[in-house]
Amino acid sequence: MMNYRITLLPGDGIGPEIMAVAVDVLKVVGNQFNLNFEFQEAPIGGVAIDATGKPLPTETLEMCRNSNGVLLAAIGGYKWDNLPRHQRPETGLLGLRAGLGLFANLRPAKILPQLIDASTLKREIVEEVDIMVVRELTGGVYFGRPKGVFETETGEKRGVNTMAYSESEIDRIARVGFETAQKRGGKLCSVDKANVLEVSQFWRDRITLLAQEYPDVELSHLYVDNAAMQLVRWPKQFDTIVTGNLFGDILSDAAAMLTGSIGMLPSASLGASGPGVFEPVHGSAPDIAGQDKANPLAQVLSVAMMLRYALEQPLVADKIEKGVLEVLEQGYRTGDIMSEGMKLVGCQKMGEVLLEVLSL
Ligand code: IPM
Ligand code: MG
Repeated sequence: MMNYRITLLPGDGIGPEIMAVAVDVLKVVGNQFNLNFEFQEAPIGGVAIDATGKPLPTETLEMCRNSNGVLLAAIGGYKWDNLPRHQRPETGLLGLRAGLGLFANLRPAKILPQLIDASTLKREIVEEVDIMVVRELTGGVYFGRPKGVFETETGEKRGVNTMAYSESEIDRIARVGFETAQKRGGKLCSVDKANVLEVSQFWRDRITLLAQEYPDVELSHLYVDNAAMQLVRWPKQFDTIVTGNLFGDILSDAAAMLTGSIGMLPSASLGASGPGVFEPVHGSAPDIAGQDKANPLAQVLSVAMMLRYALEQPLVADKIEKGVLEVLEQGYRTGDIMSEGMKLVGCQKMGEVLLEVLSL
Protein backbone atom coordinates (compact mmCIF):
# COMPACT_ATOMS: atom_id res chain seq x y z
CA MET A 1 0.00 0.00 0.00
CA MET A 2 1.40 3.37 -1.04
CA ASN A 3 0.72 6.30 1.28
CA TYR A 4 0.32 9.83 0.03
CA ARG A 5 -0.36 12.95 1.99
CA ILE A 6 -2.42 15.36 -0.09
CA THR A 7 -3.07 18.96 0.88
CA LEU A 8 -6.48 20.20 -0.21
CA LEU A 9 -6.96 23.92 -0.80
CA PRO A 10 -10.62 24.33 -1.81
CA GLY A 11 -10.47 28.13 -1.65
CA ASP A 12 -13.38 30.29 -2.75
CA GLY A 13 -16.45 30.36 -4.97
CA ILE A 14 -17.10 27.04 -6.68
CA GLY A 15 -13.86 25.70 -5.13
CA PRO A 16 -15.41 23.57 -2.36
CA GLU A 17 -18.01 22.04 -4.73
CA ILE A 18 -15.50 20.87 -7.32
CA MET A 19 -13.00 19.80 -4.67
CA ALA A 20 -15.59 17.49 -3.13
CA VAL A 21 -15.88 15.64 -6.44
CA ALA A 22 -12.08 15.42 -6.78
CA VAL A 23 -11.74 13.92 -3.31
CA ASP A 24 -14.40 11.31 -4.05
CA VAL A 25 -12.54 10.37 -7.21
CA LEU A 26 -9.28 9.96 -5.30
CA LYS A 27 -10.96 7.77 -2.71
CA VAL A 28 -12.44 5.49 -5.35
CA VAL A 29 -9.24 5.03 -7.35
CA GLY A 30 -7.29 4.75 -4.10
CA ASN A 31 -9.35 1.70 -3.16
CA GLN A 32 -8.98 0.19 -6.60
CA PHE A 33 -5.23 0.67 -6.89
CA ASN A 34 -4.35 0.14 -3.24
CA LEU A 35 -3.24 3.70 -2.63
CA ASN A 36 -3.88 5.38 0.68
CA PHE A 37 -4.55 9.09 0.57
CA GLU A 38 -4.30 11.06 3.74
CA PHE A 39 -6.04 14.39 3.23
CA GLN A 40 -5.26 17.59 5.06
CA GLU A 41 -7.19 20.77 4.31
CA ALA A 42 -6.13 24.38 4.67
CA PRO A 43 -7.52 27.83 3.84
CA ILE A 44 -6.18 30.02 1.03
CA GLY A 45 -7.55 33.11 -0.71
CA GLY A 46 -10.73 34.80 0.46
CA VAL A 47 -11.66 32.17 3.06
CA ALA A 48 -8.19 32.55 4.56
CA ILE A 49 -8.54 36.34 4.62
CA ASP A 50 -11.82 35.99 6.46
CA ALA A 51 -10.40 33.50 8.95
CA THR A 52 -6.93 34.93 9.55
CA GLY A 53 -6.60 38.27 7.77
CA LYS A 54 -4.04 36.79 5.38
CA PRO A 55 -4.61 35.19 1.95
CA LEU A 56 -1.83 32.64 2.56
CA PRO A 57 -1.43 31.79 6.24
CA THR A 58 2.02 30.46 7.16
CA GLU A 59 0.40 27.22 8.37
CA THR A 60 -1.14 26.68 4.93
CA LEU A 61 2.21 27.02 3.17
CA GLU A 62 3.84 24.73 5.75
CA MET A 63 1.14 22.13 5.29
CA CYS A 64 1.66 22.25 1.51
CA ARG A 65 5.42 21.81 1.91
CA ASN A 66 4.73 18.87 4.12
CA SER A 67 2.80 16.85 1.57
CA ASN A 68 3.25 14.80 -1.59
CA GLY A 69 0.95 16.93 -3.69
CA VAL A 70 -1.30 19.95 -3.38
CA LEU A 71 -4.75 20.08 -4.94
CA LEU A 72 -6.00 23.62 -5.31
CA ALA A 73 -9.46 24.56 -6.55
CA ALA A 74 -9.82 28.31 -7.04
CA ILE A 75 -9.49 31.59 -5.20
CA GLY A 76 -11.06 35.04 -5.33
CA GLY A 77 -14.45 36.72 -5.33
CA TYR A 78 -16.15 40.09 -5.43
CA LYS A 79 -16.02 40.40 -1.67
CA TRP A 80 -12.25 40.72 -1.57
CA ASP A 81 -11.68 42.62 -4.82
CA ASN A 82 -11.19 46.00 -3.20
CA LEU A 83 -8.84 45.06 -0.41
CA PRO A 84 -5.26 46.35 -0.49
CA ARG A 85 -3.09 44.17 -2.72
CA HIS A 86 -1.26 42.32 0.06
CA GLN A 87 -4.64 41.15 1.36
CA ARG A 88 -6.07 40.04 -1.97
CA PRO A 89 -6.79 36.36 -2.67
CA GLU A 90 -4.54 36.50 -5.77
CA THR A 91 -1.62 37.49 -3.58
CA GLY A 92 -2.11 34.24 -1.68
CA LEU A 93 -1.91 32.22 -4.89
CA LEU A 94 1.21 34.05 -6.04
CA GLY A 95 2.72 33.52 -2.58
CA LEU A 96 2.02 29.79 -2.83
CA ARG A 97 3.70 29.58 -6.24
CA ALA A 98 6.71 31.56 -5.03
CA GLY A 99 6.85 29.79 -1.66
CA LEU A 100 6.96 26.34 -3.26
CA GLY A 101 9.25 27.49 -6.10
CA LEU A 102 6.74 26.39 -8.75
CA PHE A 103 8.40 27.94 -11.78
CA ALA A 104 6.88 25.66 -14.42
CA ASN A 105 3.18 25.68 -15.19
CA LEU A 106 1.89 23.07 -17.61
CA ARG A 107 -1.47 23.87 -19.16
CA PRO A 108 -2.66 21.31 -21.69
CA ALA A 109 -5.37 22.34 -24.12
CA LYS A 110 -6.58 19.22 -25.81
CA ILE A 111 -9.83 19.10 -27.68
CA LEU A 112 -12.00 16.16 -26.73
CA PRO A 113 -13.93 14.75 -29.69
CA GLN A 114 -17.10 14.70 -27.57
CA LEU A 115 -16.90 18.46 -27.05
CA ILE A 116 -16.04 19.72 -30.51
CA ASP A 117 -19.48 21.27 -30.83
CA ALA A 118 -19.06 23.12 -27.55
CA SER A 119 -16.25 25.17 -29.07
CA THR A 120 -17.07 28.62 -30.39
CA LEU A 121 -14.77 27.90 -33.33
CA LYS A 122 -15.52 25.80 -36.38
CA ARG A 123 -15.03 22.06 -36.21
CA GLU A 124 -12.27 21.99 -38.85
CA ILE A 125 -10.31 24.61 -36.90
CA VAL A 126 -10.39 22.88 -33.52
CA GLU A 127 -10.57 19.16 -34.21
CA GLU A 128 -7.40 17.36 -33.16
CA VAL A 129 -6.02 20.42 -31.38
CA ASP A 130 -3.54 19.26 -28.75
CA ILE A 131 -1.41 22.03 -27.30
CA MET A 132 0.70 22.19 -24.17
CA VAL A 133 1.36 25.68 -22.85
CA VAL A 134 4.46 25.78 -20.65
CA ARG A 135 4.15 29.00 -18.71
CA GLU A 136 6.90 30.46 -16.54
CA LEU A 137 5.25 31.01 -13.17
CA THR A 138 7.51 32.66 -10.61
CA GLY A 139 9.17 35.46 -12.57
CA GLY A 140 8.54 38.10 -15.20
CA VAL A 141 6.32 41.09 -14.64
CA TYR A 142 4.33 39.27 -11.94
CA PHE A 143 7.30 39.34 -9.58
CA GLY A 144 9.87 41.82 -11.03
CA ARG A 145 11.04 44.78 -8.99
CA PRO A 146 10.63 47.69 -8.61
CA LYS A 147 6.88 47.46 -8.31
CA GLY A 148 4.30 49.65 -6.68
CA VAL A 149 2.74 53.07 -6.98
CA PHE A 150 5.28 55.81 -6.45
CA GLU A 151 5.14 59.56 -6.32
CA THR A 152 7.29 61.30 -8.90
CA GLU A 153 9.23 64.57 -8.38
CA THR A 154 6.28 66.56 -9.65
CA GLY A 155 4.00 64.94 -7.10
CA GLU A 156 2.21 62.90 -9.73
CA LYS A 157 1.68 59.24 -8.91
CA ARG A 158 3.05 56.51 -11.16
CA GLY A 159 2.28 52.79 -11.19
CA VAL A 160 5.23 50.51 -11.88
CA ASN A 161 5.84 46.84 -12.57
CA THR A 162 9.01 45.38 -14.00
CA MET A 163 9.32 42.60 -16.51
CA ALA A 164 12.62 40.91 -15.80
CA TYR A 165 14.11 37.48 -16.47
CA SER A 166 17.52 36.25 -15.46
CA GLU A 167 19.52 33.71 -17.45
CA SER A 168 18.86 30.92 -14.99
CA GLU A 169 15.13 31.64 -14.88
CA ILE A 170 14.90 31.46 -18.66
CA ASP A 171 17.09 28.39 -18.93
CA ARG A 172 15.15 26.27 -16.47
CA ILE A 173 11.75 26.98 -18.02
CA ALA A 174 13.22 26.57 -21.51
CA ARG A 175 14.47 23.12 -20.53
CA VAL A 176 11.00 22.17 -19.33
CA GLY A 177 9.71 23.42 -22.69
CA PHE A 178 12.22 21.44 -24.74
CA GLU A 179 11.76 18.29 -22.67
CA THR A 180 7.99 18.56 -22.85
CA ALA A 181 8.18 18.94 -26.63
CA GLN A 182 10.45 15.89 -26.83
CA LYS A 183 7.77 13.79 -25.13
CA ARG A 184 5.06 15.19 -27.41
CA GLY A 185 5.17 16.20 -31.08
CA GLY A 186 8.76 17.47 -31.06
CA LYS A 187 7.83 21.08 -31.84
CA LEU A 188 8.44 24.00 -29.51
CA CYS A 189 7.21 27.54 -30.14
CA SER A 190 8.65 30.21 -27.87
CA VAL A 191 6.44 33.27 -27.50
CA ASP A 192 7.83 36.69 -26.65
CA LYS A 193 7.72 40.36 -27.62
CA ALA A 194 11.31 40.62 -28.82
CA ASN A 195 10.45 43.31 -31.36
CA VAL A 196 9.82 45.74 -28.49
CA LEU A 197 11.07 44.43 -25.16
CA GLU A 198 14.73 43.94 -24.19
CA VAL A 199 13.76 41.23 -21.73
CA SER A 200 12.07 39.37 -24.57
CA GLN A 201 15.05 39.67 -26.91
CA PHE A 202 17.17 38.24 -24.12
CA TRP A 203 14.62 35.45 -23.64
CA ARG A 204 14.74 34.65 -27.35
CA ASP A 205 18.55 34.64 -27.45
CA ARG A 206 18.80 32.26 -24.47
CA ILE A 207 16.20 29.88 -25.91
CA THR A 208 17.98 29.89 -29.26
CA LEU A 209 21.27 29.09 -27.55
CA LEU A 210 19.78 26.23 -25.54
CA ALA A 211 18.15 24.80 -28.65
CA GLN A 212 21.58 23.48 -29.67
CA GLU A 213 21.24 20.92 -26.88
CA TYR A 214 17.92 19.71 -28.28
CA PRO A 215 18.54 19.03 -31.96
CA ASP A 216 15.52 16.72 -32.03
CA VAL A 217 13.16 19.60 -31.19
CA GLU A 218 12.03 21.92 -33.94
CA LEU A 219 12.10 25.42 -32.42
CA SER A 220 10.18 28.44 -33.66
CA HIS A 221 9.55 31.91 -32.24
CA LEU A 222 6.44 34.08 -32.38
CA TYR A 223 5.63 37.52 -31.08
CA VAL A 224 2.83 37.33 -28.57
CA ASP A 225 0.32 39.33 -30.60
CA ASN A 226 0.85 37.05 -33.58
CA ALA A 227 0.69 33.99 -31.32
CA ALA A 228 -2.72 35.10 -30.02
CA MET A 229 -3.93 35.48 -33.59
CA GLN A 230 -2.47 32.14 -34.73
CA LEU A 231 -4.10 30.37 -31.78
CA VAL A 232 -7.56 31.25 -33.03
CA ARG A 233 -6.67 31.18 -36.73
CA TRP A 234 -5.04 27.76 -37.02
CA PRO A 235 -4.34 26.24 -33.61
CA LYS A 236 -3.24 22.89 -35.06
CA GLN A 237 0.13 24.43 -35.98
CA PHE A 238 1.06 24.36 -32.27
CA ASP A 239 2.47 21.47 -30.30
CA THR A 240 4.27 22.87 -27.25
CA ILE A 241 4.41 26.58 -26.42
CA VAL A 242 6.88 28.02 -23.93
CA THR A 243 6.43 31.57 -22.71
CA GLY A 244 6.80 34.00 -19.82
CA ASN A 245 4.40 34.52 -16.95
CA LEU A 246 2.10 37.24 -18.30
CA PHE A 247 1.99 36.04 -21.91
CA GLY A 248 1.34 32.52 -20.63
CA ASP A 249 -1.50 33.74 -18.45
CA ILE A 250 -3.21 35.31 -21.44
CA LEU A 251 -2.47 32.66 -24.07
CA SER A 252 -3.46 29.78 -21.82
CA ASP A 253 -6.95 31.23 -21.40
CA ALA A 254 -7.25 31.61 -25.16
CA ALA A 255 -5.94 28.08 -25.74
CA ALA A 256 -8.36 26.76 -23.13
CA MET A 257 -11.32 28.24 -24.93
CA LEU A 258 -10.44 26.38 -28.14
CA THR A 259 -11.51 23.25 -26.35
CA GLY A 260 -15.00 24.56 -25.71
CA SER A 261 -14.78 25.49 -22.08
CA ILE A 262 -12.16 26.63 -19.65
CA GLY A 263 -14.13 24.43 -17.26
CA MET A 264 -12.39 21.37 -18.71
CA LEU A 265 -8.73 22.29 -18.33
CA PRO A 266 -6.37 21.15 -15.60
CA SER A 267 -2.90 22.43 -14.86
CA ALA A 268 0.25 21.37 -13.05
CA SER A 269 2.66 23.76 -11.38
CA LEU A 270 6.00 22.18 -10.70
CA GLY A 271 9.26 23.21 -9.06
CA ALA A 272 12.75 21.79 -9.06
CA SER A 273 11.86 19.67 -6.03
CA GLY A 274 9.07 19.42 -3.48
CA PRO A 275 5.36 19.05 -4.03
CA GLY A 276 3.60 20.45 -7.09
CA VAL A 277 0.28 22.24 -7.12
CA PHE A 278 -2.49 20.89 -9.32
CA GLU A 279 -5.40 23.15 -10.14
CA PRO A 280 -7.96 23.89 -12.81
CA VAL A 281 -7.09 26.78 -15.15
CA HIS A 282 -10.48 28.38 -14.49
CA GLY A 283 -11.22 30.67 -11.58
CA SER A 284 -13.64 30.63 -8.66
CA ALA A 285 -16.71 31.61 -10.75
CA PRO A 286 -18.42 33.54 -7.92
CA ASP A 287 -21.45 34.12 -10.17
CA ILE A 288 -22.43 30.44 -9.99
CA ALA A 289 -20.91 29.51 -6.62
CA GLY A 290 -23.10 27.44 -4.33
CA GLN A 291 -25.63 26.71 -7.06
CA ASP A 292 -24.41 23.25 -8.05
CA LYS A 293 -23.73 24.45 -11.59
CA ALA A 294 -19.95 24.23 -11.75
CA ASN A 295 -18.11 21.83 -14.00
CA PRO A 296 -15.91 19.64 -11.75
CA LEU A 297 -14.03 17.99 -14.62
CA ALA A 298 -11.04 20.36 -14.75
CA GLN A 299 -10.54 19.68 -11.05
CA VAL A 300 -10.83 15.95 -11.65
CA LEU A 301 -8.35 16.15 -14.53
CA SER A 302 -6.03 18.06 -12.19
CA VAL A 303 -6.17 15.02 -9.92
CA ALA A 304 -5.06 12.97 -12.91
CA MET A 305 -2.17 15.37 -13.53
CA MET A 306 -1.14 15.06 -9.87
CA LEU A 307 -1.13 11.28 -10.15
CA ARG A 308 0.93 11.49 -13.33
CA TYR A 309 3.44 14.21 -12.48
CA ALA A 310 3.80 14.04 -8.71
CA LEU A 311 2.81 10.59 -7.50
CA GLU A 312 4.11 8.60 -10.46
CA GLN A 313 0.87 6.70 -10.90
CA PRO A 314 0.29 7.05 -14.64
CA LEU A 315 -2.10 4.09 -14.81
CA VAL A 316 -4.39 5.66 -12.24
CA ALA A 317 -4.19 8.96 -14.14
CA ASP A 318 -5.13 7.12 -17.35
CA LYS A 319 -8.10 5.55 -15.65
CA ILE A 320 -9.45 8.92 -14.45
CA GLU A 321 -8.96 10.55 -17.85
CA LYS A 322 -10.75 7.67 -19.55
CA GLY A 323 -13.56 7.99 -17.00
CA VAL A 324 -14.02 11.65 -17.87
CA LEU A 325 -14.20 10.79 -21.57
CA GLU A 326 -16.73 8.10 -20.81
CA VAL A 327 -19.18 10.38 -18.94
CA LEU A 328 -18.96 12.85 -21.82
CA GLU A 329 -19.52 9.98 -24.22
CA GLN A 330 -22.65 9.08 -22.26
CA GLY A 331 -23.90 12.61 -22.92
CA TYR A 332 -23.59 14.21 -19.50
CA ARG A 333 -22.85 17.95 -19.62
CA THR A 334 -22.63 20.80 -17.17
CA GLY A 335 -23.97 24.15 -18.38
CA ASP A 336 -20.63 25.44 -19.68
CA ILE A 337 -20.26 22.55 -22.14
CA MET A 338 -23.93 21.94 -22.85
CA SER A 339 -25.01 21.40 -26.44
CA GLU A 340 -28.18 20.23 -28.09
CA GLY A 341 -29.40 16.74 -27.29
CA MET A 342 -27.10 16.31 -24.29
CA LYS A 343 -28.06 15.69 -20.65
CA LEU A 344 -27.67 18.79 -18.51
CA VAL A 345 -26.42 17.97 -15.01
CA GLY A 346 -25.08 19.86 -12.02
CA CYS A 347 -21.71 19.55 -10.35
CA GLN A 348 -22.77 16.87 -7.88
CA LYS A 349 -24.53 14.72 -10.45
CA MET A 350 -21.54 14.96 -12.77
CA GLY A 351 -19.46 13.67 -9.86
CA GLU A 352 -21.88 10.80 -9.25
CA VAL A 353 -21.93 9.57 -12.83
CA LEU A 354 -18.17 9.79 -12.94
CA LEU A 355 -17.84 7.71 -9.76
CA GLU A 356 -20.18 5.15 -11.26
CA VAL A 357 -18.09 4.91 -14.41
CA LEU A 358 -14.88 4.67 -12.36
CA SER A 359 -16.34 1.93 -10.17
CA LEU A 360 -17.00 -0.38 -13.11
C1 IPM B 1 -4.11 31.98 -13.46
C2 IPM B 1 -4.83 33.12 -12.80
C3 IPM B 1 -3.87 33.79 -11.83
C4 IPM B 1 -2.69 34.33 -12.63
C5 IPM B 1 -4.49 34.88 -10.94
C6 IPM B 1 -5.72 34.41 -10.23
C7 IPM B 1 -3.49 35.43 -9.97
O1 IPM B 1 -5.32 34.00 -13.76
O2 IPM B 1 -3.69 31.05 -12.74
O3 IPM B 1 -3.97 31.99 -14.68
O4 IPM B 1 -2.75 35.44 -13.14
O5 IPM B 1 -1.70 33.63 -12.72
MG1 MG C 1 -5.08 33.33 -15.75
